[in-house]
Amino acid sequence: MTTTDTRIPVDIGKVLVDPAAYADHRLHDTYRWLRANNPLGVAEIEGFDPFWVVTRHADLQEVGRQNELFPYGNRSSTMVDQFGDARVREIMGGSPQLLRTLVHMDAPDHPKYRALTQGWFMPASLRKLEDKIRGIARAAVDRLAGMGGRCDFVADFALGYPLHVVMEILGVPEQDEPRMLKLTQEIFGPQDPDTARAALSDPGAFVLSMMAVVEDFSAYFGAISADRRANPRDDLASVIANAQVDGEPISDQAAMSYYIIVATAGHDTTSSSTAGGMWALCENPDQWAKLKADPSLIPTFVDEAIRWTTPVKHFMRSAAADTELAGRKIAQGDWLMLCYASGNRDEAVFENPYSFQVDRKPNKHIAFGYGAHLCLGQHLAKMEMRILFEELLPRLKSVAFDGEPTMSQSWFVNGPKKLPLRFELA
Ligand code: HEM
Repeated sequence: MTTTDTRIPVDIGKVLVDPAAYADHRLHDTYRWLRANNPLGVAEIEGFDPFWVVTRHADLQEVGRQNELFPYGNRSSTMVDQFGDARVREIMGGSPQLLRTLVHMDAPDHPKYRALTQGWFMPASLRKLEDKIRGIARAAVDRLAGMGGRCDFVADFALGYPLHVVMEILGVPEQDEPRMLKLTQEIFGPQDPDTARAALSDPGAFVLSMMAVVEDFSAYFGAISADRRANPRDDLASVIANAQVDGEPISDQAAMSYYIIVATAGHDTTSSSTAGGMWALCENPDQWAKLKADPSLIPTFVDEAIRWTTPVKHFMRSAAADTELAGRKIAQGDWLMLCYASGNRDEAVFENPYSFQVDRKPNKHIAFGYGAHLCLGQHLAKMEMRILFEELLPRLKSVAFDGEPTMSQSWFVNGPKKLPLRFELA
């Protein structure tokens, strides 16, 4: 796979598989170095299969655009070490995935399963949810306003709101939301010592703990699915429970995977972008003032907050055939890490990529991916954030850090973990 000029120095490559590096400056320092010196190189790190590291916006788009040439194939859709990969394959009868959701499927199944709910997530259909979402946002802002001028913006605000929205859409009762939140954090942030069920240093226990999380989810949604088959309602859970592919009802396992992907993909990402946007506003008082003075900038601010945070740090793909990308020879079966967060700081696409600009336009970020797997929930995520900040900003006179903010440690989905704020109400 490699010649010396394609190989990434080991110390640089190691950063990409160190969850702790995703919580500090090392990640973006590494991406910047890679874009400048080896934008499409191979990381060879002990304990991991070699993988290509795609860091430039144009190359990320190219891979996304050619989904048949760069499918998931018989490879894990997210980074995994050799031990973890072997354990999953052992448990799953050779498959590298613990689940088979949309983000693990290739054509011909992927477009069929995606089509089942695509209409639900289109702006025209989401419009009917606007009032409901605004009500949820208003209640969240009221709770924040009652906190006496101090909060942890993540725990007290950003986490609960998108969770509530997505659970409302799925039809999950409010009292079950804390359980859903915990399971999602265990699935998406399994490397962070504060949310993991088992230590990363014990890979065997780690894989089993991930299986247990999936089982918990399945037990929960099994009951919802049975209910919606017997009593269909006007919610997404009923669409999934009664869905058909090729004229046949989808299997219980397929329905379960669908619930899990919507339940999980839909809120940690949105809450991370919400908190990431607020963090950036506190760090950039001029941008806060600009946004306060002109609320019509909220939509461009929302896109900038998503670019800035890029909560989904990567997905993996494999090459279905020998090919060439950006002058590199990629062999069939090679594994590629799509570094979306690097593409979103690419100097070739973004003017002053390291500055946070609430009025950035155009903003061709790829935080939602690109091509066939482009985020199904992107319009919902942006609508949720827009409504939230439309409700929040007029209520706040000032806002500032009230202690050190921290990021969660995960090489997959991460964002602010703690964001202590002081604020004055308007
Ligand atoms: C896929 C990011 C919010 C549901 C994706 C992918 C990314 C992403 C990068 C593509 C993965 C790939 O390249 O394979 C985000 C971000 C969000 C967000 C940054 C918030 C700011 C949501 C919401 C929902 C959602 C609110 C639904 C309620 C999905 C689903 C897929 C997906 C179902 C799989 C699509 C497919 O494979 O066809 N998301 N997402 N996401 N997202 Fe999102």
